[in-house]
Amino acid sequence: MEKLIILNHKMNLIYDEVYEYIDMLNNLNTSNNIIVLPSDVYLETFISNCSWAIGSQNVYHEIEGSFTGEISTLQLKSLGIEYVLVGHSERKLIFKESDKDINLKLKASLDSNIIPILFLGEKENEEVLSTIKKQLDHYLTGIKHIEFIIFAYEPIWAIGNGKTASIEHISKVTDYIDDYLFTKYKINANIVYGGSVNKDNINNILKISKINGVAIGSISANKDKIKEIIETIN
Ligand code: PGA
Repeated sequence: MEKLIILNHKMNLIYDEVYEYIDMLNNLNTSNNIIVLPSDVYLETFISNCSWAIGSQNVYHEIEGSFTGEISTLQLKSLGIEYVLVGHSERKLIFKESDKDINLKLKASLDSNIIPILFLGEKENEEVLSTIKKQLDHYLTGIKHIEFIIFAYEPIWAIGNGKTASIEHISKVTDYIDDYLFTKYKINANIVYGGSVNKDNINNILKISKINGVAIGSISANKDKIKEIIETIN
């Protein structure tokens, strides 16, 4: 079955590197589906030149107005953007986004038919299942059309440092998320894993029963390394 490969560039790549990068993506040898999330300054370049789906790394919940530096779902939609990241741990830890912000961003995205990729994950010292439950309870309050959300399980302690969660750990948490969403909302969740995914662990992660794909961070902006990782998938 086709898997979903989410490429979160974070704040990487300069303009001179973008066209070669897009060229690499357009010529990948893969049967899987890719969503690319470049920095916002390159969204138009990717939309116009890249053959894969494009998403934004962030969005503001208001539609338009005096919100200096922010980008709305209306603007993203007008460009043809189909996906947006919501609740990434870097947004929460560095930019102090709250559960309420995440809830509003989810609502704004779904209202505009942009598919949110919603991040869930525990810090090193947090009990995992109760943390995930609390996040789901808070983020999804009052949200309609939860069935369109892509859920990205990313343990915060496994992001950007080579410390991937074990297969048992990922299985336990994704079983829990799947069960929570089916019991409460009667939906079959679309779940991906992120956190130090690399060419050596990607195939084992993709074999986990509730996993439909992976989210890959900083390394995804390196065109040679990400090509190797994607073409390793069997
Ligand atoms: P990483 O990041 O692949 O660099 O660990 C994952 C993410 O932040 O989405």
